[in-house]
Amino acid sequence: MSFPKGFLWGGATSAAQIEGAYNRDGKGLSTADMMTLAESGNPREITEKIESDKFYPTHFAIDHYDRYEEDIALFAEMGFKVYRLSFAWTRIFPNGDDEVPNEKGLAFYDKVIDLCLSYGIEPLVTIQHFDTPMGLEKYGFWKSRKVVDLFVKYSEVLLRHFNGRVRYWLTFNEINNMSTMPWNAGGISINASEKDKMVAAYHQLVASAKVVKLAHEIDPNNQVGMMYNGHFSYPNSPDPEDIQGNEEFQQKMLFYADVQCRGVYPNFKLKELERQNIVLPTQEGDAEILKEGTVDYISFSYYLTHVCGKKTKGIIKGLNGLETGYTNPYIKRTQWGWGIDPKGLRYALNFLYNRYQLLLIIVENGLGAEDKIEEDGTIQDDYRIDYIKQHLIEMKKAIDLDGVPVMGYTAWGPIDLVAASTGQLRKRYGFIYVDLNDFGQGTGNRIRKKSFDWYKEVISSNGENLSI
Ligand code: BG6
Repeated sequence: MSFPKGFLWGGATSAAQIEGAYNRDGKGLSTADMMTLAESGNPREITEKIESDKFYPTHFAIDHYDRYEEDIALFAEMGFKVYRLSFAWTRIFPNGDDEVPNEKGLAFYDKVIDLCLSYGIEPLVTIQHFDTPMGLEKYGFWKSRKVVDLFVKYSEVLLRHFNGRVRYWLTFNEINNMSTMPWNAGGISINASEKDKMVAAYHQLVASAKVVKLAHEIDPNNQVGMMYNGHFSYPNSPDPEDIQGNEEFQQKMLFYADVQCRGVYPNFKLKELERQNIVLPTQEGDAEILKEGTVDYISFSYYLTHVCGKKTKGIIKGLNGLETGYTNPYIKRTQWGWGIDPKGLRYALNFLYNRYQLLLIIVENGLGAEDKIEEDGTIQDDYRIDYIKQHLIEMKKAIDLDGVPVMGYTAWGPIDLVAASTGQLRKRYGFIYVDLNDFGQGTGNRIRKKSFDWYKEVISSNGENLSI
């Protein structure tokens, strides 16, 4: 059960979910910094200003800003070949529209990238992961074309500054989240009109294409991918109405990938926009930009699968698009209600490869669960090992039995971090435990869980040894 030679094993994080230091060394506020901890089952609140009686999990997060050396050393100890991280736009351009970049922000990422390289870890950088600068609110965030230029300017600084050190890039994390979590995706309210969401999505798609093109011009060795939130779904039944409802759900997600991989809006999306009386804010030359800026590879997150059908026709319900109104009786769920479906990963890999024929990488997968520290100080997270193991087995089948080209796997949250949907820290994904509670209280100490040694063995045996 060995994986292809050079397979990129590693882990993935995002700046806002680990760094903390939200206002240090010139960093500006981002959309992530305005989100409170979700309490009593309510969604996270987004406040206009920072309110002193509210708790904002990203402000301290897991203090990676001060502890990055320890954290990256632990990743190296596990044998990471690749580390997916994101840069915070607000460290480089605190307001998003500043004239010149903040040197202190670049200096922080210099240290992080150089440290990774010194361990032989290939960095894979997401340029925007759920943290649009609040300074862009005055333009209406991604509703404005102006933000396209500002994002390209920010990206150009990164591409030039890190040229030769960073080769793998992703433009936007889970770009299809503009339909499900638009505040995270780009500062757009969940209650915004469909028109506003589609305009913002259009701007991100154009911005992404421009950055892909620019990255290739700056260095032909650059590889720029798209990042798709893996909302894969099965029809509820063979009822043709369920098949159609499922198709409509998939289309709502997939058009983003179609544009980034094929360089044009698919007909089904153009027709839908027409029916909705939504006119995209196209400018001369945009069609060429989209065509010339198609991605080199596809990355995606995979946590769960959905069931869709006639009830979901034309709509996407619920936080993170998770509540489709149907339950899959054949699979179990996590403590947070996410359907556990390893076999669906093989399906997803085949689905994406058959649709786009592009190289794939899974850049997020993992189990969010509460962990317990035993009396002897150990953390026996066999459930996490089992979850990832089952997914790796199915990924291997897709490679070996179906011939799907997969270049790597980065487990989400190799170190416990702030959950994006709830802001909780007790929703833990890590191989490394962080001794902090939801409110950031605790020593912050890093503790290797049982899964740490397991994943280390998986990597050193190139996936051959998956036993506990
Ligand atoms: C993905 C995001 O949607 O899911 C991550 O890219 C996020 O940022 C991950 O953390 C898991 O979701 P959650 O809500 O459990 O953190």
